Amino acid sequence: MQNNTFSTLFVGQNTVTLSIVDSTNDYLKNLLSKSAPLPEGTVILAEEQFAGRGQVNNAWLSDPGKNLTFSLLLTPSFLDPEKQFLLNKVISIAINDTLVQIIGADVKIKWPNDIYFKDKKLGGVLIENILRGNKWKYAVVGIGLNINQIEFTSSVKNVTSIKKILHKDYDKASLLNHLCTAIEKYYLQLRSGNSEWLDNQYLQNLYRINEWHSFTIDGHVIDGKITGVNKNGMLELFSQDKTRTYSFKEIAFVI
Ligand code: BTN
Repeated sequence: MQNNTFSTLFVGQNTVTLSIVDSTNDYLKNLLSKSAPLPEGTVILAEEQFAGRGQVNNAWLSDPGKNLTFSLLLTPSFLDPEKQFLLNKVISIAINDTLVQIIGADVKIKWPNDIYFKDKKLGGVLIENILRGNKWKYAVVGIGLNINQIEFTSSVKNVTSIKKILHKDYDKASLLNHLCTAIEKYYLQLRSGNSEWLDNQYLQNLYRINEWHSFTIDGHVIDGKITGVNKNGMLELFSQDKTRTYSFKEIAFVI
């Protein structure tokens, strides 16, 4: 355990740094199931993950020592689990806001919570919720961001990193500090009930909103325009004179 000099109240104040682990999300979930309660805001940071996980059972590949791979513990018990997409918004807005200050306004949130620079993926978020009854007990927020890696396996398409954009190394520790500060700021907005403001921030920074693009639905390519995201986190797409909503597994962007 390490106490940081982060200028936050709780996010990142208790940081555990591991040189190698299967997945920081799994490590944190395992700690929660076994040991004494951990303080909210605890961060598990790994130099290397050998079984990093992405969304929909994809692997998260990241060269050792080059990128940020960490998991953050939050306890949003004040929030109805039905509103859990608001936490996805908090985290993606915070990452987006932090990165815009480093690499500019081309950083966007690709629904539901990927982080894109122009048409390339810079990072992703995997939030795993632990509920007890109908109450939200823990959220394990896994964040992977490509920082200083410039070569990627050919199986990973449309990917970039801060170094590929800025053409120089970026200080990972300072970025983590800024991310923790931003996450805390937006999480406190959620705690204060400012969900409408968070909805607006999310939509303002959403990749391809209100633009015509192609999407794949049921194996067919269609043209449509993203008009919003509903309370359950489903994508609202206007196409063929109608707005329909889609879950993550039902629709893919054509990039
Ligand atoms: C995605 O875009 O598919 C989500 C990627 C999430 C990766 C991070 S890295 C830290 C944490 N530990 C994991 O195993 N996954 C998340």
